[in-house]
Amino acid sequence: MGKILVVGNWKMHLNASQASLLLHRLQERIPIYKDVEVVLSPSMLTLQPLSVQLDRRKFRLAAQNAYFVDEGAFTGEVSFTMLRELVHYVIVGHSERRRYFHEDLDMVKQKVAASVRNDITPILCVGETKTERDDGETKQVLHDQLLSGLSNLTPAEVGNIVVAYEPVWAISDGTNFADHFIAKPQQVAEAVDYIRRYIKDVFNDKASREVRILYGGSAVPDIVQGFLDVPGVDGFLVGGASLNYHTFSSIIQACHRWQRGGKEDADA
Ligand code: PGA
Repeated sequence: MGKILVVGNWKMHLNASQASLLLHRLQERIPIYKDVEVVLSPSMLTLQPLSVQLDRRKFRLAAQNAYFVDEGAFTGEVSFTMLRELVHYVIVGHSERRRYFHEDLDMVKQKVAASVRNDITPILCVGETKTERDDGETKQVLHDQLLSGLSNLTPAEVGNIVVAYEPVWAISDGTNFADHFIAKPQQVAEAVDYIRRYIKDVFNDKASREVRILYGGSAVPDIVQGFLDVPGVDGFLVGGASLNYHTFSSIIQACHRWQRGGKEDADA
């Protein structure tokens, strides 16, 4: 595999000084790794100050959301165009946005397209709810989310994006991982295989090999190695565990160790 991609989604946590302190701690703790790409996704408010403080050899930035129209009378929104100098990635279609802010398939599709149009890599989140899984609808849900989310893209564009498989039932509330179900590697393997096969059938083989697929949902240091063994998993979208510099840096280190086949090295 190429670089492992780890994205820390800070969600609606940390004011400007708290965010700056967390970045400071992470920069102290995480060395420059050539085999792990680390992306931080703080609130919209703190993207700008963190971009000044950020060591670009270690981290990239992602926005958690953006609006698909480039400019106009849309009170309260920030466009992909406004973010293009600031971030490499934007998280699109996170289940919390679909659920609490009523983002439907069409809106997610337009956001993916706006992201690509503005040279920002979208991290398209897909995944089923508990009820949908229990009703045997997981593949249908993934199918519908991929069909709409990717429909405006060429095969080459699809090969460049990131898809995050996040079963909604495995996403923590950010405080208590024990109360949530972490997906089993086998369940992740089936979903990731389905996503790659969908992309191969609808786009082409190259796109299905090149698209990066992350697992998200209560990702903690202990699961990292086991999930990287799942074929087709390229990294993690981490929520709650990314707010703590110990756990987040442990996740990054575990990824680096996995890349080195379990060996420690001098810079780790
Ligand atoms: P979690 O969140 O790691 O806290 O479950 C993941 C996400 O929502 O991206």
